[in-house]
Amino acid sequence: MRKQKKTNASIYADAVDVLPGGVSRNTIFHKPYPHYVAGAKGCVVTDIDGVERVDFANNMASLIHGHAYPPIVEAVTKQLQIGTAYTLATEIEVRYAQHLTSRAPDFDKIRFVNSGTEAVMSMVKAARAFTGKSKIAKAEGSYNGTYDYVEVSQVSSPDNWGDIDRPNRNPLAYGTPQGVLDDVVVYPFNDIERTLALLDENADDIACVLIDPIPHRVGLFEATDEFVEAIYFWTRKNNALMVFDEVITFRTNYGGAQQNYRVKPDLTALGKMIGGGFPVGAFAGRSDVMSVMDPNENPLRLPHSGTFSANPITMTAGYVAMKDFDEQAVLDLNSMTAKAISQIRDAIRVADVPMSISGSGSMFRLHPRKTKPLSYRKAFQTPQEKTVMTKVLDHLFYKENIIMVNTGTCMFSTAIGQKEVDQLSQGMLNAFKAVGDELNKVYTETHLK
Ligand SMILES: Cc1ncc(COP(=O)(O)O)c(C=O)c1O
Repeated sequence: MRKQKKTNASIYADAVDVLPGGVSRNTIFHKPYPHYVAGAKGCVVTDIDGVERVDFANNMASLIHGHAYPPIVEAVTKQLQIGTAYTLATEIEVRYAQHLTSRAPDFDKIRFVNSGTEAVMSMVKAARAFTGKSKIAKAEGSYNGTYDYVEVSQVSSPDNWGDIDRPNRNPLAYGTPQGVLDDVVVYPFNDIERTLALLDENADDIACVLIDPIPHRVGLFEATDEFVEAIYFWTRKNNALMVFDEVITFRTNYGGAQQNYRVKPDLTALGKMIGGGFPVGAFAGRSDVMSVMDPNENPLRLPHSGTFSANPITMTAGYVAMKDFDEQAVLDLNSMTAKAISQIRDAIRVADVPMSISGSGSMFRLHPRKTKPLSYRKAFQTPQEKTVMTKVLDHLFYKENIIMVNTGTCMFSTAIGQKEVDQLSQGMLNAFKAVGDELNKVYTETHLK
């Protein structure tokens, strides 16, 4: 009997029997079925049906040099032959820690973990252990991983977000304990007056204020200098820490987005690109705070371990990736991204569609409206806007062979050149023309009522 050829559809038919919804991560879920990879190299991913697409998502911002980057493949192959994880330490974790701590002046010490979620969670626990307080403050709409506390109000919507003076604490997952909600203060990003008022009310209980300096799901625009400084000085006065989630944003400068500010966070969570394509997280910061995990301390305020933390495969891949993402590489990547933004702005003008772009460094996001939104509530998309954005992204995926993040975001890699940027801007122009009437109709109905 002849074996039937595998297709995206046939693999998905098997997947639904064994994986909930047929997927292991909801981000890659796609109707009518997700696409299965046959191989990838540089900025091109080929699916099992043989379609080649240019990748502007890079596994949600984690592949800074694209796929199968030869120096990483070579270094990891060598390490694989001598073991992948031990119950002993490795030198590579020390060398990599030296490299990462040299990139930002406030990174005195660093700990490696296995995901961005774990990095943010461990950072929050370190802040609690250091201050002896339990509450955290986080921005409305911000995605900081899947730790219960930081999930609060991640997807607040007009029917449940409440008064802007006091944004509601909305659970993300059914069954979130009330105690979790009670221990989170939700603040409106970049809104100094309202945020400080909320922090003041909880001053005795707040261990840390968590800031993603360019929060993707809030709208991918930068925290203002004034906002970051206001939080910094509030935390100095109130025995609290200012902690940054730079799991994505560390890519924007050689020393992360924090390089843009005069004041520095006490702790920073890292992830994604620092794993060189392998699962990773890390958190770094002040020596005195990080010492809550020091096994020499008595009492040990934060016992902290992880079976695969600092495994030599991730450390090897990450070290190669980050050493090659040096000051010049960061500048080159940012300027390639700026070119793309400029060409896409031209496409928006030519197609005459209500579309704007936010972003920083090597990442940007499309918004279906004429001017760039500057708050979570302004960036929030109605179901009609989401539907029309999905049409734009589907056009790009199926007709132009372009992969983007499903929020309309691109996260560039160093494998992308002018040819791919031209394909992207031409693809956008075609998509804007194809969906233009609908974009204009939804814009008029939503914003000009
Ligand atoms: C800003 C931010 N923080 C934390 C995380 C969680 O990282 P991970 O998916 O590695 O757990 C993400 C993931 O998308 C993120 O974007």
